[in-house]
Amino acid sequence: MSDRSPTPDQLALYERACAVRERAYAPYSRFPVGAVLVAEDGRAFEGVNVENGSYGLTICAERSACVQAVGEGARRFTAIGVATHPSAHTGSPCGACRQFLAEFGLDLVVVYQREGEIVAEPLSALLPAAFELKG
Ligand code: THU
Repeated sequence: MSDRSPTPDQLALYERACAVRERAYAPYSRFPVGAVLVAEDGRAFEGVNVENGSYGLTICAERSACVQAVGEGARRFTAIGVATHPSAHTGSPCGACRQFLAEFGLDLVVVYQREGEIVAEPLSALLPAAFELKG
């Protein structure tokens, strides 16, 4: 089994995602999520889940961060910290967000809470056999 232990920097990234989570707009689920996506050039982009009264329009924190990053010209990313509701048994990115992030590379390191522990692992481990439009 691979070692998922986070480095101090990765732990700090997770802690930053916890702080960002405070700004989540989640009045319907009461399940706040914060994400911080780090670009190769060192910039960091923050995102929260933004819910909507038309429930299906809700956007997850990870995609929110990614949309902001791409809009600012970033295309290459090294890591993302994701902090979901503290009571979650496991707070990993949902399947849609995994695929969305995969667009920009499967080497992205995802830092999240898994069964009570903060772990770091590549997106490729969370999304094996990712969909690809072209071979
Ligand atoms: N949510 C995220 O922000 N990221 C995920 O990866 C999964 C779920 C949000 C969407 C919704 O606002 C709330 O969590 C409950 O599903």
